[in-house]
Amino acid sequence: MQDVLIHTADGVTTLTINRVDKKNSLTTAMYAAMADTLQQAQDDDAVRVVVIQGDVTVFSSGNDIGDFLSGPPATPDAPVSRFLRAIATFPKPLLAAVCGPAVGVGTTMLFHCDLVYAGDNAAFSMPFVNLGLCAEAASSLLVPQMMGYHRAAEALLLGEPFMAEAALEVGLVNRIVPPLEANAFTQAQARKLAAKPLSSLVETKRLMKKGQMAQVLAQMDEEGQSFGRMLREPAAKEAFTAFLEKRKPDFSRV
Ligand code: COA
Repeated sequence: MQDVLIHTADGVTTLTINRVDKKNSLTTAMYAAMADTLQQAQDDDAVRVVVIQGDVTVFSSGNDIGDFLSGPPATPDAPVSRFLRAIATFPKPLLAAVCGPAVGVGTTMLFHCDLVYAGDNAAFSMPFVNLGLCAEAASSLLVPQMMGYHRAAEALLLGEPFMAEAALEVGLVNRIVPPLEANAFTQAQARKLAAKPLSSLVETKRLMKKGQMAQVLAQMDEEGQSFGRMLREPAAKEAFTAFLEKRKPDFSRV
């Protein structure tokens, strides 16, 4: 079974994260598949809308921690960087259906989606600091902007999870639905968009985003440089090893 399923129907390309036994954590190969799909969807006139969805029990537990240890991304062309740039610059409507945990990039990617629908079991978290890392995907810019600084500090410095209701309140989520209905509801919204004139959708999205696109990409680059360095430092190595060994990390010496 593929770790990312790709399906196109009625002008909607759906990308299903499908690695449930590993809580939908994202490997290098999965980032590459998702980045390639977004690039093709951007170029293909038959694709009008893209949906990213996971399983009813888990959206994504973020980057595969084993991959972080064994092959941390080293260049701006790394698949994860290509994926992040692709979602930030995707010109057509991009939707997400989120149920269960959405950890790390599982949450930060949502700041680049146009519409987000969540199951009432959705739990969002950005525990980068707890892993010896820093914010990524322009979240250091977009999270304070959306939530206000102090709530952003709780989410990004303390790494505290927040549930669907809180995500709705700050505007990260458009609507909360029963988990079993989240994917179908999101598909219905995607089909509504796919029936509209594509040029109007693309131009309106461009106009909404253009004011800070350059800033978003610059922030993403700066975060990427720090993140890439920190992945190789002792705090992150201890955090990743502790996760894989199923123990609490010991940061007393880092
Ligand atoms: N990378 C690699 N493997 C992961 C993973 C990740 N990000 N998240 C979960 N897994 C694996 C676990 O190692 C476990 O594998 P095993 O069955 O071989 O032991 C399996 O998925 C199930 O995970 P588990 O932790 O037992 O599930 P849970 O329901 O108790 O908890 C989460 C779910 C998502 C809360 C928890 O797995 C978690 O916190 N994951 C790490 C999140 C993270 O820090 N991501 C990086 C963000 S930058």
